[in-house]
Amino acid sequence: MCGITGYIGYRDAYPIIINGLQRLEYRGYDSAGVVLYDGKQINLSKTKGKVSDLLNKFDAEDAKKGNVGIGHTRWATHGVPNDVNSHPHTSQSGDLVIVHNGIIENYDTIKKELINRGYTFHSDTDTEVLINLIEEVKKNNNVKLGKAVQIALNEVVGAFAIAVFDIEKPDEIVVAKLGSPIAIGIGKDNTEFFIASDASPFLEYTKDAIYLEDEEMAIIKVGRAIEIRKINDDSVVTANVQELQMNLEQIEKGGYDHFMLKEIHEQPRAITDTFRGRLLKDEAIIKMAGIEDNMKRFLNAERILIVACGTSWHAGLVAEYIFEEFARIPVEVEYASEFRYRNPIITEKDIVIAISQSGETADTLAAIKMAKSKGAFVFGVCNVVGSSISRESDAGAYTHAGPEIGVASTKAFTTQITVLTLIALRLARAKGTMSSSDFRMYLHEMELIPNKVEKLLEIDSKVEEIARKYLLSTNFLYLGRGFNFPVALEGALKLKEISYIHAEGYPAAEMKHGPIALIDDRMPVVVIATNKGHYDKVVSNIQEIKSRQGKIIAIVTEGDTVVKEIADHVIEIPDTEEALTPLLTTIPLQLLSYYIAVMRDCNVDQPRNLAKSVTVE
Ligand code: F6R
Repeated sequence: MCGITGYIGYRDAYPIIINGLQRLEYRGYDSAGVVLYDGKQINLSKTKGKVSDLLNKFDAEDAKKGNVGIGHTRWATHGVPNDVNSHPHTSQSGDLVIVHNGIIENYDTIKKELINRGYTFHSDTDTEVLINLIEEVKKNNNVKLGKAVQIALNEVVGAFAIAVFDIEKPDEIVVAKLGSPIAIGIGKDNTEFFIASDASPFLEYTKDAIYLEDEEMAIIKVGRAIEIRKINDDSVVTANVQELQMNLEQIEKGGYDHFMLKEIHEQPRAITDTFRGRLLKDEAIIKMAGIEDNMKRFLNAERILIVACGTSWHAGLVAEYIFEEFARIPVEVEYASEFRYRNPIITEKDIVIAISQSGETADTLAAIKMAKSKGAFVFGVCNVVGSSISRESDAGAYTHAGPEIGVASTKAFTTQITVLTLIALRLARAKGTMSSSDFRMYLHEMELIPNKVEKLLEIDSKVEEIARKYLLSTNFLYLGRGFNFPVALEGALKLKEISYIHAEGYPAAEMKHGPIALIDDRMPVVVIATNKGHYDKVVSNIQEIKSRQGKIIAIVTEGDTVVKEIADHVIEIPDTEEALTPLLTTIPLQLLSYYIAVMRDCNVDQPRNLAKSVTVE
């Protein structure tokens, strides 16, 4: 977690760093800080709170001066969020300054050694330990900053993305990476450089970027090509300069009040982009390089293990139903955090599919590394191109959702389901578990989904009305069956995380084994009751809720007449094949949680205690 920005060049660093931090706030937002060097001295400002709180510290124009600086927006790991624990941190002498994303696991041992050598610490952070270690190494070995950083990093255990500078040599910033991302934007003729946890802070300045790999460090000096080295053996690495495909529009709100609402409304486009070039209806084929190149492995797989966290785990659960139904391959869906720490039975005949929007989730990354070490073939389904999970996977398929900035995942979920459905359909054809007429029918139905989502988004104001009725509720129950059981879980998660209302998702038939005791006239129950699958059984569940005075918000198929008679509120979705309904039933649940959160005055895009990518355990 945490966002890092930095600038060195000929422009004022302050606006670049501040705007950059605001774009990176999705990574953490419990404190923020900036340090600038104005040619004579450093000006360091930091505070508990958001970047907007930090701006209050810059009343004096003088404090904004400088062509070099680094900034940080934090999601606390070591030490509570307060002014002192905020980054940047300075070394004991005050000469070295650092921002850090990650965790130094052996910080305590190093701290004790440094205390014995006369260092005093002001914060509870592992980062202050790291900057003092760098200072101690630099002093003792009489080396330059780059070398000192390298020696120090070889002594630490953990994960990091850091940016460091020395006020004695303010024309240079040293960055390094292990486990946490860092990108470097390159200005024309090396006259300026930008540093950031992702490329969004420097999109308007340059399209040329280098993403450091794990165990690499870079010495960035104005007027000189970047020098990249391996941290552990000092070998020189050739810089791989990429042209960024992202544009500014994609990372701005574009007239919406919140990124979450924008991203909900982007789903028709995102789903289309995800199947573009892959779903070829006229030729009746699905083309996905990552599957074609490894078809033999998929056909011989005895089992598919899906590992993921949070919303991505819910997409995995939907995929379990779809893979088993279409391709008749046994699937197990695992929380990456549990999977990595037990001793799972994995063989070379297993395929592990890792699902992750960010591609940086620490538990998912660790789970695939473990599965690979046991011989499994790892297939990554990620949204962020070039992310750690996509690089660590043997093969994969990107979702093309575009940048997802709202902390609550929306378009990432529906595009993950889209990719996984395409894979299941492709395998079903290859295995012969689906007839060619059914296959064609599914391709046709899939292609209609974006328009159906578009139509569904028109119910916006109806959902808003329902939200108004239940905004003061303290509990919600979400029920669904079959393909829509995971959607019930996802609906509950969305509500919890952005409106702080307690919500539970359950398979509808499980209600009578416990949760039914919760139902009274104050309990809203969201029931997904589309007209296929277990419709009659879900209708019986709705009756059971009704008899206990629960308030029913039902998601039904257009033209439904039965549920309409019983439910308090009905939201209609366009008709489609049962296996594809999650792509539609999800939409009203996203909108419901959004409107309730807005009406409760919650920070929708940056809910408390959360961050967009969880790069720590
Ligand atoms: C919920 C949410 C999280 C993420 C989870 C995994 O809205 O966003 O539950 O789904 O942290 O993140 P990724 O998909 O980046 O691995």
